Amino acid sequence: MNGTLSDQPLARDLERVLLSEETIRARVREMGARIDASYGPGEEPLLVGILKGACVFLSDLLRAIPRHVALDFISTSSYGAGVRSSGQVRLLKDLDKPVEGRHILLVEDIIDSGLTMSYLKRMLLARRPASIRIATLLDKPSRRKQPLTPDYVGFEIDDLFVVGYGLDFDERYRNLPVIGVLKPACYQKMGEEAPRAGEPRNLDDKGETC
Ligand code: PRP
Repeated sequence: MNGTLSDQPLARDLERVLLSEETIRARVREMGARIDASYGPGEEPLLVGILKGACVFLSDLLRAIPRHVALDFISTSSYGAGVRSSGQVRLLKDLDKPVEGRHILLVEDIIDSGLTMSYLKRMLLARRPASIRIATLLDKPSRRKQPLTPDYVGFEIDDLFVVGYGLDFDERYRNLPVIGVLKPACYQKMGEEAPRAGEPRNLDDKGETC
């Protein structure tokens, strides 16, 4: 782990850091430049953040796009308190304004099964926008249940349970500045997966905060 993380007690709950602050920062900057270059002169995309996970990525991406953009939010939920999607997308908050004729850029922290994005894309296409594109910081293509190809991807990752930089487990860890793999002991505590027989959890002697 890097120096910044030594001040962050929550980092003790990580098995390992997958993406450091520097790596994320550099990639988000590249994504912003690519997004900017792909819109025509005068086009003012409407960035739509999918709450809550995308809030950290969105706030950085926004500042990496050197043109006028508008901002709105949608809130969905599919995960509950578990590590796997329930498979059912619920719309908790809709956009504030009509989007007919607008260039929509949906901004996600992670695409897993693709169910959330497929649902949102279908819903928004019916409102006749000029275009819909998708930017996601993380993509787990191996987990797809619905075919979906995002237009801009920060990092393709394996099927690991990651937290930090907006991504949560049971609403925790969103404020970690890095993206890391959560220690199994931390989600086993929530009863996500029973520990193997004879394997003590030993949380205290490893200093976890979970
Ligand atoms: C997560 C993530 C995406 C969705 C991706 O949201 O932020 O919106 O799951 O999964 P999918 O591709 O399998 O649909 P979550 O429901 O956990 O809510 P949150 O953003 O508030 O953490």
